[in-house]
Amino acid sequence: MQIEIVKDYEALSKKAANIIASQIVLKPQGVIGLATGSTPVGTYKELIRMNKEGLISFSNITSFNLDEYYGLGADDDQSYHYFMNENLFNAIDIKKENIHIPNGKASDVGAECTRYENRIKEAGGIDLQLLGIGQNGHIGFNEPNENFEPLTHLVNLDSDTIKANARFFDSIEEVPTQAISMGVKTILSSRKILLLASGENKAEAMYKMIKGKVTPKLPASALQLHHDVVVIMDEAAASLL
Ligand code: PGA
Repeated sequence: MQIEIVKDYEALSKKAANIIASQIVLKPQGVIGLATGSTPVGTYKELIRMNKEGLISFSNITSFNLDEYYGLGADDDQSYHYFMNENLFNAIDIKKENIHIPNGKASDVGAECTRYENRIKEAGGIDLQLLGIGQNGHIGFNEPNENFEPLTHLVNLDSDTIKANARFFDSIEEVPTQAISMGVKTILSSRKILLLASGENKAEAMYKMIKGKVTPKLPASALQLHHDVVVIMDEAAASLL
């Protein structure tokens, strides 16, 4: 694990965008795994700037998002489809047909999970997967559990996650209670992983992810098993290390 501690969110966003941009320059037809949440928004802003300035092109990039709320359609403004369109896709030159996000409205969830895994394989696997981390140590929506869920699956969201995500909704009752998420093996199969953490509320999870033992009770600890993980965190997120 390569750990980089930077001063603040702005520095984190710039550094993360530079790593993603160099991956795109090295492999313009590559496959990038993307994340939602507050953390990557600054990184996406930087990538949009670089795209507009002609420094990078997404025209041959394929993307796979980590997860989607179960029950929300792509046009629902709380869906991760909507989030990605607003915060990245609408502002860059990626082709719509190269964007992949689990279908939160799938009537057969099992078939949707299998389809998603197969699409990742057909695309040649993920070259670089971007991750945030939950305060409870989740990656994607892999919540603390007794076992690591390997593949894309339907998840019951943790009460901590529902509380943390309520800030995006009018009330906590509106937060979906289930999601479709890549599994831990899906994530670990990526050739390179870039995890971002900002703010003091992530400090405990970061401490456990880096210094603790590998356990499904802190899903991000599984990243200790991967050979090419870059972690970028600001000083607040690193405050317990
Ligand atoms: P955040 O979410 O970026 O909004 O803090 C991260 C996550 O829950 O994985």
